[in-house]
Amino acid sequence: MISETTAWPNLACWDGLESDLANTAVDSAPLFQALSEALVTLQHGDLPRWQRALEALPHGLQIWDGAPAAPCLGAPAPDPTALREALMGLHPWRKGPLRLAGVHIDTEWRSDMKWSRLEPHIDWAQQTVLDVGCGNGYFGWRMLAAGARCVVGIDPTTLFLMQWLAQRHFSGPAPNYVLPLRDTDLPATLTGFDRVCSLGVLYHRRDPLDHLGRLRRCLREGGVLVLETLVVEGDESLHPPGRYARMRNVHEVPSLARLKAQLHAAGFQTIQVADVTWTTREEQRRTDWMQFESLDQCLDPENPTQTVEGHPAPLRALVLAQAS
Ligand SMILES: C[S@@+](CC[C@H](N)C(=O)[O-])C[C@H]1O[C@@H](n2cnc3c(N)ncnc32)[C@H](O)[C@@H]1O
Repeated sequence: MISETTAWPNLACWDGLESDLANTAVDSAPLFQALSEALVTLQHGDLPRWQRALEALPHGLQIWDGAPAAPCLGAPAPDPTALREALMGLHPWRKGPLRLAGVHIDTEWRSDMKWSRLEPHIDWAQQTVLDVGCGNGYFGWRMLAAGARCVVGIDPTTLFLMQWLAQRHFSGPAPNYVLPLRDTDLPATLTGFDRVCSLGVLYHRRDPLDHLGRLRRCLREGGVLVLETLVVEGDESLHPPGRYARMRNVHEVPSLARLKAQLHAAGFQTIQVADVTWTTREEQRRTDWMQFESLDQCLDPENPTQTVEGHPAPLRALVLAQAS
């Protein structure tokens, strides 16, 4: 239960979480406690504008068929132009693509490409999943379509929560949740997940070992961590002194050897590097739905194997590790 004292108007969006986690190894009580605490301080200058965008979404179009593979949510809207305008009120859309009530949201990231690298390596059937740094919840739909039982995403960026609410507006109740929490908000007593994902988050954390330790705690013994992160070739990790690919908050880009050592130290075993892929301009690019700078503006135009700061261009590894 969420405390009634919060001013957050969309409390009903987490209805169902408690029952979706019932009869699993995950106790939802500590999760609701953390959520209640986070909602007390949840605010953003753009929140009223985003709320208006949500209120402008057409009603009566919900479709939840249990397997939105695209993801494709909601029946086609009678006025797609008005819907597009309302959804544009939640710009920038980074993770997708999504199709909401017939409107195609061509997001900055072709997250379906990341999903194609992930999906064949992981058994999602009937699994409870915690997705830390889940963005707008895109991957949750993919996991449900692959058979997951319930996906609990957490992400502290309020705009991504609003984008998830827009998706939920068209899906109706579905076991794919986004909660406005950071990894550091995860209660020590929260555990029992079959899968914990950390996709594109590790290099944003000042203390990667602390992040990995928190992920480990949330897994049941034998559960699997799905870690996707920037890495560098060779043995030397990169500690960008300033920005990395124009990002201010990249603290460490580890070598694969260092990443494995960190995983061991955090209590993981059977560590498998499933994929290593360079990020391409096909996968990350500026679109109508994300009109700010993207990968193209972050690479050296003379030498695209380097970022504009002279660091190696983005290389991403997918690593699976078992909680020992
Ligand atoms: C690069 S995006 C990755 C999003 C998505 N997981 C993906 O792979 O496409 C990093 C995400 O981590 C979130 N984030 C940043 N700090 C975090 C923290 N301390 N705990 C959880 N999420 C965090 C950001 O809001 C953002 O959505």
